[in-house]
Amino acid sequence: MAVLVRFCGPADPSPSHRQRRPARFPSAADVRSCSPHTRCRHHPNVRPAVPDSAPDSSIDAIAAGLQAQAYLPSRELATAAFLALRLQRPLLLEGAPGTGKTAIAAALAAALGRSLIRLQCYEGLDLASAAYEWNYARQMLEIRLAQAQDHQRTADELFARRFLIERPLLQALTTTPAPVLLIDELDRADAPFEAFLLEFLADFQLSIPELGTLAAATPPLVVLTSNRSREVHDAVKRRCLYHWLDFPDAARELAIVRARLPGLDAALARQIVGFVQGMRRIDLYKLPGLAETLDWSRALVELNAVSLDPATVQSTLGVLLKYQDDIARVQGSEAARLLAELRTTARA
Ligand SMILES: Nc1ncnc2c1ncn2[C@@H]1O[C@H](COP(=O)(O)OP(=O)(O)OP(=O)(O)O)[C@@H](O)[C@H]1O
Ligand SMILES: [Mg+2]
Repeated sequence: MAVLVRFCGPADPSPSHRQRRPARFPSAADVRSCSPHTRCRHHPNVRPAVPDSAPDSSIDAIAAGLQAQAYLPSRELATAAFLALRLQRPLLLEGAPGTGKTAIAAALAAALGRSLIRLQCYEGLDLASAAYEWNYARQMLEIRLAQAQDHQRTADELFARRFLIERPLLQALTTTPAPVLLIDELDRADAPFEAFLLEFLADFQLSIPELGTLAAATPPLVVLTSNRSREVHDAVKRRCLYHWLDFPDAARELAIVRARLPGLDAALARQIVGFVQGMRRIDLYKLPGLAETLDWSRALVELNAVSLDPATVQSTLGVLLKYQDDIARVQGSEAARLLAELRTTARA
């Protein structure tokens, strides 16, 4: 895609701005540069030609691409990712901690051969950190240089693209090929930031008062995650496809552990997964996620464990559970019960 970013705002510094076509009507050069493999903004109703071998050609292809990155999605998640790509809609992922919300963005980027741009949200996240800021030092230098040479600088010249420092949201619009943009833990940001995101999520564009509107020629694949520490606003949800990530069932969790830790003994892997699945049926304050299962597996490898026994479980519960009340609840009789269940299942 040769023409990446359109300038269509009132403050476009180019003198030829008035002769340009409005944002949604591309020039002949824009149209010539459209790729047949992406649904471009100039031809929104033309279904792009996707080669059968492309990782986004089907749900199976997406799932296979993710699996090649050792990320094993459920069928529903692979479908959501496929639709997000084909419909060019952001994908909002919610779910319990450690269920793969963040990891899928990196896996998708690697599977699709795109770069990953990450925006970590936090309370107080502002435009300057999330989208762009003007390089005031460089602007001052430019003014000083102009004064030394007895030139005058107009505001238009000082608010040109070259004085703009790109932060993740703007980078996501200007990077080619279109990257994967991860907006992680949106629930940690303030509500005004969500309001600011609406234009970006709906039209893949940013309005910069001094410069105009910058829009991506090919939209990035946007993955948003939330841990539901507060509800994400309906207006954001409306612009996204939504998927809830649950804890995986035993078969998929075992497959993930085997994929992530190929050297782990198969029988021990089954015991680990069985034990963690059993723990998730106990009424705990914080249930262990996939991240904890993988951490526990690595810990047991480090301890040269060959199978689960009460002493090993007792001494490593802190890898799985992070609240003392939960540890107190599981250790002792509950752990013994879960280990007995595992033995019964293994004999069956
Ligand atoms: N489907 C999966 N296949 C393979 N690995 C997975 C899968 N889901 C999660 N993981 C692994 O589990 C770990 C935790 O995943 P991740 O950090 O993405 O969870 P999260 O949902 O973002 O957690 P949090 O809410 O705490 O940020 C990572 O190591 C990730 O690679
Ligand atoms: Mg995460």
